[in-house]
Amino acid sequence: MGKGTVFCLVVALALLLLLPHNALAQTAAPPAPTPAPAPAPAPVYVNLTDLLSVAGPFHTFLGYLQSTNVIATFQNQANNSRDGITIFAPSDDAFSSLTSPSLSNLTQDQLRSVCLFHALPKYYSLADFKSLSQSSPVATYAGGQYTLNFTYTFGLVRISSGWTNTKITSSVHATDPVAIYELDRVLLPEAIYGTNIPPAAAPAPSPNTTPAADAPATKSNSTISSTTGSKPSAAATLTVASSRGISIALIAAVLCTFVALV
Ligand SMILES: *[C@@H]1O[C@H](CO)[C@@H](O)[C@H](O)[C@H]1NC(C)=O
Ligand SMILES: *[C@@H]1O[C@H](CO)[C@@H](O)[C@H](O)[C@H]1NC(C)=O
Ligand SMILES: *[C@@H]1O[C@H](CO)[C@@H](O)[C@H](O)[C@H]1NC(C)=O
Ligand SMILES: *[C@@H]1O[C@H](CO)[C@@H](O)[C@H](O)[C@H]1NC(C)=O
Ligand SMILES: *[C@@H]1O[C@H](CO)[C@@H](O)[C@H](O)[C@H]1NC(C)=O
Repeated sequence: MGKGTVFCLVVALALLLLLPHNALAQTAAPPAPTPAPAPAPAPVYVNLTDLLSVAGPFHTFLGYLQSTNVIATFQNQANNSRDGITIFAPSDDAFSSLTSPSLSNLTQDQLRSVCLFHALPKYYSLADFKSLSQSSPVATYAGGQYTLNFTYTFGLVRISSGWTNTKITSSVHATDPVAIYELDRVLLPEAIYGTNIPPAAAPAPSPNTTPAADAPATKSNSTISSTTGSKPSAAATLTVASSRGISIALIAAVLCTFVALV
């Protein structure tokens, strides 16, 4: 080996060592191992009857849940399902302010459906309603046509059954697997009362709030696309740096081979 060859090999080696540390580490490092899932903690028993009898007051709602035995269905879901349960509990005032249509003409089966209509067979935190609102209409525990629509605006959760437009007024309990949220209206399903809703039952949202709720969504569309378009990510910068380093090393290697041959 000539002097030139040795010199060139040294230069190539030095260039390789000068490569950004991350560029080499990135290709060599195996993907980070996913941590083993922690064993599921024993489910906490939440006594729904107990919760509903001390909060609220929800005596009327609890009375209906007990007379239809829906309370056992809900408790069983809370006890034994992985999904948990979300219950919308109308206050006693909500039932006393219910005039027409009312629950008084309903059969026992319909009452049972109305009770089931006040729950979702899954635990949802208040924040979860943001994504849930994207999938309206949402099936309730009553199944079939018994659906609810949700909208989420700056933490406020609005609920619509067609006949009833209301909102979550407070969170009574929200620890996986049980969520109980208070409502100041009883949810009346279209599946029982029909879709011929008198205008008085479903007042149009006030013109003051609707544009305000729509405006940020329209703005963010353009804001997001312009920021992602102009700012390259750290990963992209790294790729550019490492490929540049590798090119320099390759050029050096080719030069060395050439010098060695000469
Ligand atoms: C649940 O709470 C109710 C009301 O406090 C009580 O009567 C009932 O015994 C409790 N059930 C269990 C299984 O602890
Ligand atoms: C729920 O669990 C409690 C406590 O383990 C039990 O006493 C109660 O009978 C269960 N209820 C249902 C409906 O599964
Ligand atoms: C019960 O039904 C009857 C006829 O089906 C109706 O006239 C009456 O207004 C209903 N009562 C209530 C409280 O909805
Ligand atoms: C619920 O949302 C669906 C889809 O956006 C819509 O077609 C339906 O009319 C809504 N129902 C009510 C009661 O707001
Ligand atoms: C919102 O973004 C979509 C695609 O991301 C685009 O087609 C649409 O024109 C945008 N709307 C506005 C108002 O910028």
